[in-house]
Amino acid sequence: MTTRAGKFIAAFLLGLAVSGSPLAEEPVTPKLTDKLSRLLQEEMRSVQSAMATIHTAMVTGEHDTVATSAQQIHDSFILQQKLTDQDRKDLMSAVPKGFIRLDKEFHKLAASLAEAGRKQNTKKQRQLYDEMTRNCIACHGKYASDRFPGVNTAKN
Ligand code: HEC
Repeated sequence: MTTRAGKFIAAFLLGLAVSGSPLAEEPVTPKLTDKLSRLLQEEMRSVQSAMATIHTAMVTGEHDTVATSAQQIHDSFILQQKLTDQDRKDLMSAVPKGFIRLDKEFHKLAASLAEAGRKQNTKKQRQLYDEMTRNCIACHGKYASDRFPGVNTAKN
């Protein structure tokens, strides 16, 4: 995971306290500036690739790899943010609180998964992996429905 990609999600949190609350469950994607959109997509691709690595490591008992990759997902959330003030303003007006909540939850789960990796607890890893997957689906269904119209959260 690149440092730059990791910094993106943290910016959402900075915006949380002062964020207005745009209508929930509207896609956030059309509201993002080109730059923010690019950074989010970059971050998402990093997350996706880490999840694939974790899946293989989990089913083959490579606990260290589970721990390392899950930790990378988590750390992308807490890295110091270097967006410009304008980028932050853009974020605040683009992203609803529900999105932030889901993102926060997702990164917390990643920390728990890293811990389950360190504890070599395969069952717990599977449960957390499943919960994280549910978060991917929930967020895409709610906030990226324009991008992923096939995601059906009612059946999730
Ligand atoms: C808090 C919200 C949220 C969570 C959680 C989330 N995503 Fe996303 N994801 C998005 C949004 C919004 C987009 C659309 C970005 C765009 O097109 O501008 C996206 C796009 C993507 C993309 C496409 C990236 C590209 O190249 O355009 C992939 C792949 C992806 N997500 C994977 C995942 C995976 C895997 C998970 C869970 C492990 C996940 N996402 C969790 C919000 C989220």
